Amino acid sequence: MPNAIVTGAARGIGLATTKLFLAEGRRVAMIDSDADELARAAGALENVLPIVCDVSDEAQVAAMAGQVAKDFGSVDALVNNAGVADFRPMDQTDLQVWRRVMATNLDGVFLTSQMVIPHMTAGRGAIVNIASISGLRASTLRVAYGTSKAAVIHLTRQQAAELGERGIRANCVAPGPVDTKLALAVHSPEIRAAYHDAIPLNRYGKEDEIAQVIVFLCSEKAGYVTGQTIAADGGFDATGVGLPALRQT
Ligand SMILES: NC(=O)c1ccc[n+]([C@@H]2O[C@H](COP(=O)([O-])OP(=O)(O)OC[C@H]3O[C@@H](n4cnc5c(N)ncnc54)[C@H](O)[C@@H]3O)[C@@H](O)[C@H]2O)c1
Repeated sequence: MPNAIVTGAARGIGLATTKLFLAEGRRVAMIDSDADELARAAGALENVLPIVCDVSDEAQVAAMAGQVAKDFGSVDALVNNAGVADFRPMDQTDLQVWRRVMATNLDGVFLTSQMVIPHMTAGRGAIVNIASISGLRASTLRVAYGTSKAAVIHLTRQQAAELGERGIRANCVAPGPVDTKLALAVHSPEIRAAYHDAIPLNRYGKEDEIAQVIVFLCSEKAGYVTGQTIAADGGFDATGVGLPALRQT
């Protein structure tokens, strides 16, 4: 049975991705630092291996990778999805905030990949890292978040460059705004309305719409795709700053 590891799997985009992998017949190692939420999510599912792990903690990630390798044998797909958001002006972003965001969003992707890659299936392994449109386009209030996600996009290219000869692909998904707990915490009603104006599809994305792109990139259908970033964002990145005044509707 093919398998996958999904970090940040207890809710949101990670949980939707887990469910889609399960529906396609994969076993899934569900990784999350929130023990209660993980137990709740995994308790309702079959063919899952839930592991409580903070992806920013080297020892915990090493233990997690060892446990998954023991159980799965080799790992077919790794989805580095765990992330935290913190929106505030640059002058209120102290080193502690910066480090907290980088620890999960960037160090977490680096560490998890380093520990899992030695166990990945040569010839057809796939890594998908979750960045954000905030990593593609600069914006206010997210000096740490946006920079962490831009780094994830480049880390993906580094992985693609080095892992290609082992037949392991690495790609990135950059979601636009999706209604999850993370977005609810940082998107005020004003931000929400403004996003609508700047998105050609004129709505937030759904968790499952992001999961579909992730699962596609992990599949054989994307067998010749590596080093790429796909924005699943309703057209936000393609069109830049929206001009509501120029809209016809
Ligand atoms: N929701 C959006 O609008 C949006 C937009 C662009 C990108 N993203 C990215 O998508 C990914 C998933 O976000 P979401 O919206 O589903 O968020 P979410 O908050 O609903 O879920 C994130 C999950 O990651 C877990 N997590 C956080 N830090 C962790 C750590 N150090 N170790 C292990 N697990 C950890 C949380 O416990 C949670 O279960 C994130 O990387 C986020 O930056 C989200």
